[in-house]
Amino acid sequence: MELIVQPLGQSVPVTAGDNLLAVLREHNIPISYSCTAGRCGTCRCKVLEGRVVESGQEAKITNPNEGQYVLACMSTLNESCVIEVPEPDEIVTHPARIVKAEVVFIEDATHDIKRIVLRSAKPLSFSPGQYAMLQFTPEHVRPYSMACLDSDDLLEFHVRLVPDGRVTGYIAERLKVGDSVRVSGPMGTAYLRRKHEGPMLCVAGGTGLAPVLSILRGALAAGMRNEIHVYFGVRSPADIYCADELASLAQRHSNLRVRIIVAMGVRDGAYRRGLVTDAVAEDLPNLEGWRAYLCGAPPMVDAATLLLRRRGIQPEHVYADAFYASA
Ligand code: FES
Repeated sequence: MELIVQPLGQSVPVTAGDNLLAVLREHNIPISYSCTAGRCGTCRCKVLEGRVVESGQEAKITNPNEGQYVLACMSTLNESCVIEVPEPDEIVTHPARIVKAEVVFIEDATHDIKRIVLRSAKPLSFSPGQYAMLQFTPEHVRPYSMACLDSDDLLEFHVRLVPDGRVTGYIAERLKVGDSVRVSGPMGTAYLRRKHEGPMLCVAGGTGLAPVLSILRGALAAGMRNEIHVYFGVRSPADIYCADELASLAQRHSNLRVRIIVAMGVRDGAYRRGLVTDAVAEDLPNLEGWRAYLCGAPPMVDAATLLLRRRGIQPEHVYADAFYASA
């Protein structure tokens, strides 16, 4: 049996029952991964020919032109096949780990967003844009994106408080400086692609700004000179946060443009009014050659994905980890 890996054109011998991720790693084939347990989605790749069994289910090729996506860490090889690994020159491998951390700072970023800063006992390696699972107590666990870089001394997260939310209620009422938090990760596929040299679009809704800040900081710290367009959408002026930080970054980096779009409650033209996706549609008629990072609630991410595809961006160049309202 053989496994052919595209676009590298590499062929490796395999045996029935081999785990796909293990084979790829054993042969030093570039593949991103993190959790190795089917949770983070980082190891997703495409089956172009042949059959792969993922989590006990056969991945059938329904359209030979499109292939079938599988998670390599959960997939078993049973016959010769051809797979495609995504972006082999943009691989991130931060083996998932659990680190103990301590709350060193909590502040109200807005009326319903908390900014939480943790000091971890050991460094957590991650790429800008990824997220981690925060366990405040055994019963209070939620995923949140890092707003910082893994080279920073502290880990920063933004938490939107959900009315009557069990976990966010705990964070709002009981979490305090000095408390322990277990951080496990990293996870997520919407991480900064450092090799890309064309324009970048970052669309953030609400606390989707956290991973976008990490991506911006990562891109600027790496000296990327790409045009970077940030669209930050909020419901009302009271929901805007980190505006000074965004303005200061834009002032220092001429390749960065930041626009804040407010859906309602705008007076005297203080802010641009409307939906963030409408603003992108108005400003950016042609997105051929761009890469886009979408971070926010699923309806915004879905609407933006449709729009970007219509504007010419390649589907595989839209990176999104939609945030589901985590109570
Ligand atoms: Fe496969 Fe996380 S590494 S899903």
